Amino acid sequence: MKIMTVFGTRPEAIKMAPLVKKLQEDPDIESVLCVTAQHREMLDQVLSLFELVPDYDLNIMKPNQTISMITANVLQGMESVLQKEKPDMILVHGDTSTTFVAALAAFYQQIKVGHVEAGLRTYDKYSPYPEEMNRVLTGHLADIHFAPTQRNVDNLLRENIEKEKIVVTGNTVIDALLQVANKPYEFEDETLKKLDFEGNRIITVTCHRRENLGENMVHIFKAIREIADEFDDVEVVYPVHMNPKVRETANMVFGKSEKVHLIEPLQYQPFVNLMAKSYLLITDSGGMQEEAPSLGKPVLVVRKETERPEAIEAGTVKLAGVSQDTIYALTKELLENKGAYDEMAQSTNPYGDGKACEHIIKALKIYFKK
Ligand code: UD1
Ligand code: UDP
Repeated sequence: MKIMTVFGTRPEAIKMAPLVKKLQEDPDIESVLCVTAQHREMLDQVLSLFELVPDYDLNIMKPNQTISMITANVLQGMESVLQKEKPDMILVHGDTSTTFVAALAAFYQQIKVGHVEAGLRTYDKYSPYPEEMNRVLTGHLADIHFAPTQRNVDNLLRENIEKEKIVVTGNTVIDALLQVANKPYEFEDETLKKLDFEGNRIITVTCHRRENLGENMVHIFKAIREIADEFDDVEVVYPVHMNPKVRETANMVFGKSEKVHLIEPLQYQPFVNLMAKSYLLITDSGGMQEEAPSLGKPVLVVRKETERPEAIEAGTVKLAGVSQDTIYALTKELLENKGAYDEMAQSTNPYGDGKACEHIIKALKIYFKK
């Protein structure tokens, strides 16, 4: 069987890298890797860490790209690649525009689609935007669904997706995390080397979602700035996403703070080590909600809703919303109330045991009867 994996952004690459490695090692599978490069630098960081060399690179990223630009360029770029390679199936991941459009391109060529990280839902069309609609649409284009949890399976069944086409696998992010977290690592970044992880409490921040751009992001950052200014022993590290709109707001709110360190996006290995050494995490990232329960680090999610309620039920993740006052109050509580902190600092992970890739490959073989 010839399987083509397609991805384009940092989180897709992190979560698909361990799967591509396993596909490449399997003698029954011919593996082809196509990247859209919806992200450039942030994608290349992951490709180099996992030593992946794409067979095709559509190189579509443009500064300040709109969703329509990504859609048009991926759709057009994928056509000739799919016509040339004629894979038995393409594998896409999650909910980015690369995911949905690559699935659509495969459908146009009547090529089967496998959806990894299937079945996550908020049921709010505009939150996260455009990701909720990307995954609904991909779900209806897909021929086989690799769902991380039973709740994700139930979501798909409610949309009349046939049960025979759904497999519960766990999330491949745990496969990636365990591969990286178990290796010894010393920081190379000058800012991280100087941080006092023993004497101070480090808060790691990331924020980038399209629906948070503008006013919400200003409120989120102001709450974090207030905390950094108020608590002498708190330092904030924020590897800033490369979106120019995010950078502008981050520089505006944090620009002159000595307590908030704005740094370039980190390679996955230093970033996992930073999370592991941090006191708590404040983020709107999807992937970090799945990783943090394995590391036992409390996460305040600066969004109005989450498609990852399992992490909230596990206790490690709390939905903090986007209001400045609430984010400030919840962070302050975790800094001042040890009981509240300890309640969240648990390491039970609902997203699997790091064997998701094995489950996916087994299911692919059953699907193609190999
Ligand atoms: C995209 C995904 C989002 C995912 C996120 C992960 C869509 C519509 N959005 O959002 O689901 O959670 O990636 O980070 O699919 N840029 C660079 N270099 C990079 C990456 C980005 O310069 O390596 C800049 C470019 O100016 C680019 C902008 O960031 O135009 C935004 O990138 P884009 O992929 O459109 O949106 P994200 O917010 O990254
Ligand atoms: N991450 C990273 N370096 C950073 C920030 C995040 O490697 O500087 C990792 C993080 O551990 C997670 C993924 O990138 O696995 C999250 O990516 P992002 O926030 O871009 O997307 P999302 O998770 O929101 O889809």
